[in-house]
Amino acid sequence: MMAIRYHERGGPEVLRYERVPRPSPAAGELLVRVRASSVNPGDWQIRSGLAGDRFALPYVPGWDISGVVEQAGEGAAGFREGEEVYGMTASGGGHAEYAVIPAAQAACKPKSLSHAEAAAVPMSAFTAWRALLEQGALRPGETVLVNGAAGGVGHFAVQIAKRAGAKVVAVASGRNEAWLRELGAVEFLDYTEVPVDRSPWRADLALDAVGGPDGDRLLAAVKPGGRLVPVAFGVYSPDKAAARSVAVGEVLMPPISTDALARLAAEFDAGRLRVVLDSVYPLRDAYLAHERSEGRRLRGKIVIEMETLA
Ligand SMILES: NC(=O)c1ccc[n+]([C@@H]2O[C@H](COP(=O)([O-])OP(=O)(O)OC[C@H]3O[C@@H](n4cnc5c(N)ncnc54)[C@H](OP(=O)(O)O)[C@@H]3O)[C@@H](O)[C@H]2O)c1
Repeated sequence: MMAIRYHERGGPEVLRYERVPRPSPAAGELLVRVRASSVNPGDWQIRSGLAGDRFALPYVPGWDISGVVEQAGEGAAGFREGEEVYGMTASGGGHAEYAVIPAAQAACKPKSLSHAEAAAVPMSAFTAWRALLEQGALRPGETVLVNGAAGGVGHFAVQIAKRAGAKVVAVASGRNEAWLRELGAVEFLDYTEVPVDRSPWRADLALDAVGGPDGDRLLAAVKPGGRLVPVAFGVYSPDKAAARSVAVGEVLMPPISTDALARLAAEFDAGRLRVVLDSVYPLRDAYLAHERSEGRRLRGKIVIEMETLA
């Protein structure tokens, strides 16, 4: 089968479109004929070495997939050959014509979404959902600030917070204002004009999808007694957080589940959530998709489609 693979860590130029052995499903896994796979910052953070070296080389990137079950491994109950599924692999491998995925991290593809749209969902939407509704314990009527609102996680977070009854403040660059308001933001802060620590709005809950060395700045946009949930790694000084009585959560990366994917699928099929695709690339051009993701100026999600399959 054809796949995107790299043999050394580095920039997008290390990505090779090449023939690799087709994986076989172990017990509890599905072999999926991949129709689309989305790009997450984790893909290039692992590729570049920024996220450490826990994945052995050569390595096929790609966590999120949507496709068709080719074969169900022993004990992968609940799935049959030919079924359309979406979900997350256990350790990458999605930028390929076939990938294995734990059955416990797969569910029926949302019927209303194309494979490209469905592949955009798992990691980003699950992260936004868990951070806001579980870790952040969002309550109706609260003000929620989404920092990095135009990205993969952020654009789902805006919609999920709105549906949960929050007043949403989106933080992004000005060119993204109109579509983020359409998705549910009632206030908009252009961080290129007004730094987030000078936000005129104080949130009960802030979701930080930006992180970095300036994480602390977000504390000033949270009410005393409020919560800040980072999904990206950032610097949040415990002293500054304590002085402002803001509870800062940890960055969590729990595995996705069939149940979570099924709940998300129901939201998309009911029209309560939508996917915004920034761009779609054929598999052989995955390096362009990684380049675009790394540029950090996307709107929504970047997807890779398997052009060689009917
Ligand atoms: N914990 C987890 O399980 C988990 C899961 C998924 C992702 N993550 C992490 O969460 C972070 C976000 O992921 P993502 O997929 O949403 O990334 P993404 O789609 O690549 O985000 C790009 C967006 O960030 C915005 N942005 C860049 N600098 C900004 C700033 N200073 N202030 C506000 N917005 C800014 C850009 O919008 P503008 O053009 O408007 O600036 C762009 O739309 C990444 O670090 C990722 O690794 C963690």
